[in-house]
Amino acid sequence: MDIKSRMDELIGYINKASYEYYVLDNPTITDQEYDDYYNELLILEEKYPELKREDSPTNRVGGDVLDKFEKVTHRHPMLSFDDIFNDEEIVLFDERIRKTIGNPTYTLEPKMDGLSGSLIYKKGILVRGATRGDGITGEDITTNIKTIKSIPLRLAEDIDIEVRGEIYMSKLSFEKANIERKKNNENEFANPRNAAAGSVRQLDSKITAKRNLDFMAYFIPNPEDYGLKTQSESLKYLRKLGFVTNYKLNSYAKNISEIINYIDDLENRRDSLPFEIDGVVLKVDNLNDEKKLGFTSRVPRWGIAYKFPAKEVLTTLKEIKFTVGRTGKITPNAIFSPVHVSGSLVSKATLHNSDYCIEKDVRVGDVVSIRKAGDVIPEVVEVKLERRKDDSTPFKMIDNCPMCNTRLIRKDANHFCPNDKCPARDIESLIHFVSRDAMYIDGFGDRIIEDFYNMNYIRNVDDFYTLYKYKDELKTLEGFGEKSIENLLSSIENSKDNSLERLIFALGIRYVGKKTAKILCEYYKTMDNLIKADFDELKTINEIGDIIAKSVVDYFSNEKNLNLINRLKGYNLNMRYLGKDINTSNELINGKTFVITGTLSLPREEIKEKLESMGANVTSSVTKKTDYVIVGDNPGSKYDKAKSLNIKILDEKKYNEMINKG
Ligand code: IVH
Repeated sequence: MDIKSRMDELIGYINKASYEYYVLDNPTITDQEYDDYYNELLILEEKYPELKREDSPTNRVGGDVLDKFEKVTHRHPMLSFDDIFNDEEIVLFDERIRKTIGNPTYTLEPKMDGLSGSLIYKKGILVRGATRGDGITGEDITTNIKTIKSIPLRLAEDIDIEVRGEIYMSKLSFEKANIERKKNNENEFANPRNAAAGSVRQLDSKITAKRNLDFMAYFIPNPEDYGLKTQSESLKYLRKLGFVTNYKLNSYAKNISEIINYIDDLENRRDSLPFEIDGVVLKVDNLNDEKKLGFTSRVPRWGIAYKFPAKEVLTTLKEIKFTVGRTGKITPNAIFSPVHVSGSLVSKATLHNSDYCIEKDVRVGDVVSIRKAGDVIPEVVEVKLERRKDDSTPFKMIDNCPMCNTRLIRKDANHFCPNDKCPARDIESLIHFVSRDAMYIDGFGDRIIEDFYNMNYIRNVDDFYTLYKYKDELKTLEGFGEKSIENLLSSIENSKDNSLERLIFALGIRYVGKKTAKILCEYYKTMDNLIKADFDELKTINEIGDIIAKSVVDYFSNEKNLNLINRLKGYNLNMRYLGKDINTSNELINGKTFVITGTLSLPREEIKEKLESMGANVTSSVTKKTDYVIVGDNPGSKYDKAKSLNIKILDEKKYNEMINKG
């Protein structure tokens, strides 16, 4: 046999083995046999690189390092479903469906908790993988997608097709990844979804390859082109083509009680599944019915996502620990043995303030239920009084600051440490300075900041910018190496170019949150202007009232703060508002005036933002100055006015073509 045929044969064996392993759950060869084929193929490819196939399974180890992800436009907008949260909403959904199409059959599928991805195959070969992005444009993550072993690089049929599904990380891979991160002194991933999202957005595909992501296929955007008549046929077809589907868990229902039974059953099994799910997706099975139901302005009417209620988990309260925030505010926190709550491991939850503790009568030793408020910050919801031990002692608020021992003062429901120089405040300010919405200096976990503070490397926010002087010393610290210090220093260096609103927010001026910082910068444009801002002028700005205006004026009249800003200037930090990123390269759109009317498949706000980001004006009424009117279903009088003024009309298709041209 010639070399090329042997290589093809090996690829055939390897692909068959992967299909049996991932899709059929039924391997027929041993790991050793698989490795032998794989290694033989590797050796041949090394020896005859010109014969290496683009869809070779050896490409899965990654290799390419990109500068950035290219933007790609989805052929069919990548929509998601509306979320619902209880039985009543399921009934309402079902009634709406029945009104249009009579008696439906639904497919019921676990709602995978990852991120959606689109895969494009040409003649059966994977040519592109993309993230959802804003639904219209996503990012090209093809090299990373190719490292996911459960994604076929070649399909069972040589067809052109787009396939949608969820990119996710199994619970096992998540735990392994976190063990690895802990070992390397890196922040652990909060949950498998974040881990998957972070891994897919790596510019170095070798890192993605190591993270062991998976893909669950669930949707073909244009099923009719493949002769498919139902969603369940789509799922079967996907499996036949070589995709992993949730065939063991997917099901059908014809009425409410079947739906509710399925949801209950799945929720009970949730913890024992190998991956995280956060609900159930219901889809009308018949594709003709789906067509009849169509879309609202944002979402398909033929499906819905039922989300499981935020999970409450029981644990025993070991300690109540008080922390001091940036403003000196004292927060009691419940400390307990780590438990999994809604997909992440938590060992600390907020008890808000002393009133909350007294009202709930929380005591050390109690069994308490924990929940993630809004699925983000864990909080103690309830104390299981019936399980309380006899010897427990009631909660007592502390009198002095746990960090500096200053006597606390009470303002409304909260206690504060009044000491300006309290080290806890300093540390919290530093943590705030580097945080994601502030200067976004990556790599500084809370622990590192605390250590650097205690070792006297960073006492004030401007000390970040002189940290490089201690480079050699830092590299010798336990837990740090050449690479991690280099990374820290380069994130610090990069932060100098941030737009001004980040710095303003990072400074921690009282009452100036992320949004206010932006409003101030849009108005004043430079730090120098803002420093000179006076109370009355500040108050003329929309959304700025007495309290914020006073706080800003107070901040900039304090000598200490002005000195800090001067030092930051000296370190070359950008002191200007850089504005929205506007891409003016599409001449069909830049500088033109648009009006949007009628029902479109995307929210108008989204279209408006898109056009504005390309340099257009979007106004609400049609005048002679209007260049284009984008018209959806059931347009109102604006459409008639546009016609009477002879203004160019765009339907959604033309609009999509236009934003992609230029
Ligand atoms: S179908 C038109 N099926 O949950 C919507 N989505 O709103 C097509 N998801 O963002 C998506 N599991 O990322 C579908 N079995 C499943 C899913 C699923 C998870 C995600 C998807 C989407 C959201 C649904």
